[in-house]
Amino acid sequence: MKTINCTTKDTNEYQILIGDGILEELGQMDNFFGNYNKIVIITDKNVAKYYLTKVKKQLRKLGIDVFAIIVTPGEGSKSLAEAEEIYYKLNEIGVTRSDLIIALGGGVVGDLAGFIAATYLRGIDFVQMPTSLLAMVDSSVGGKVGIDLGYTKNIVGSFYQPKLVITDPKCLNTLNDKYLTDGMAEVIKYGCISSSKLFLRLMSFQYQEDLIDDMEEIIAKCVTIKRNVVEADEKESGIRRILNFGHTIGHVIESYFKFKRYTHGEAVAIGMYQITKMSCREGITTEKALENLQYILETYGLPWELPEMDQSEVMKILSSDKKFEGDQLNVCVIPKIGKAEIVKIKKDQAIELFKN
Ligand SMILES: NC(=O)c1ccc[n+]([C@@H]2O[C@H](COP(=O)([O-])OP(=O)(O)OC[C@H]3O[C@@H](n4cnc5c(N)ncnc54)[C@H](O)[C@@H]3O)[C@@H](O)[C@H]2O)c1
Repeated sequence: MKTINCTTKDTNEYQILIGDGILEELGQMDNFFGNYNKIVIITDKNVAKYYLTKVKKQLRKLGIDVFAIIVTPGEGSKSLAEAEEIYYKLNEIGVTRSDLIIALGGGVVGDLAGFIAATYLRGIDFVQMPTSLLAMVDSSVGGKVGIDLGYTKNIVGSFYQPKLVITDPKCLNTLNDKYLTDGMAEVIKYGCISSSKLFLRLMSFQYQEDLIDDMEEIIAKCVTIKRNVVEADEKESGIRRILNFGHTIGHVIESYFKFKRYTHGEAVAIGMYQITKMSCREGITTEKALENLQYILETYGLPWELPEMDQSEVMKILSSDKKFEGDQLNVCVIPKIGKAEIVKIKKDQAIELFKN
């Protein structure tokens, strides 16, 4: 098992525990869970099928009252309507500030349950138990929680850190391949922005089985990179922007196709390639880095080519990007694999990124 400590200004230090089979050991974590009277697990139907009974059984060994709230899988559950329903359920259960919420699931459950924890009773403790690759390497760490308003993603939310993150890479055995590929885009991103060693390791795998066997190590590496960045810049005013590598273009693509044609990871993959193509043209990035990026995206079944998009519609979506400061946009580029920097580009330069 690997333990990574995370300290942010607003919270005390918390731990991120990563270990194969760790969900089977929750019943031995009396020193943590024993501090709470009741525990409410928020999860979705797919995850509940595999892991809810296991987690409940372990926690009940500690003599704690355990409740579960199960939501419908998918982004649609990150809504005000779902949050309202959950607030009522917590009220019925009689949750107080000495109780705990556990987010057991992918990024949707983590963002939703974290948002509930941040707002119910003006904040109660919560634990992230990520079960998708994306949630393990990205959304469970860093404290961003929130919900969507229609197609506008994550527009209502907060920075609210969990008390503990418990990651069992074995959960990936039941994750659909589509979501594994999706999460790999973020893993590749960490290699690009901070670790050429991780990037090379990812390039060396020949079979998915080899990758899965190495997951504990890979997740720990990604989480350490994210932890370092988040500790340095909790509220995303500086260095944290490097985590958005590929995301500016990715978000536009996701929104343009109304979240139907591309998954988040696929859109980010296209974004990483296209921004690197631009920085290569500008002489910031080496040709070799661009070639390697294309190779690795293809190896993991991720796209890199820009789809045809109507430019006026792109402009509309791009203009609403939260990362604009006046008419300048901060974007992350990689001079070489494993190194990131932020450059400012003007709106008219940004629109060029969407032209084939
Ligand atoms: N807070 C952050 O910093 C942050 C960062 C990145 C993404 N996000 C958010 O994360 C969300 C996407 O997360 P996601 O990709 O995990 O999506 P998700 O939560 O919808 O999970 C993907 C699918 O896999 C299923 N699933 C999850 N774990 C499983 C398992 N172990 N076995 C079987 N099925 C499993 C889920 O039920 C779902 O159908 C988006 O809402 C995005 O905005 C948040």
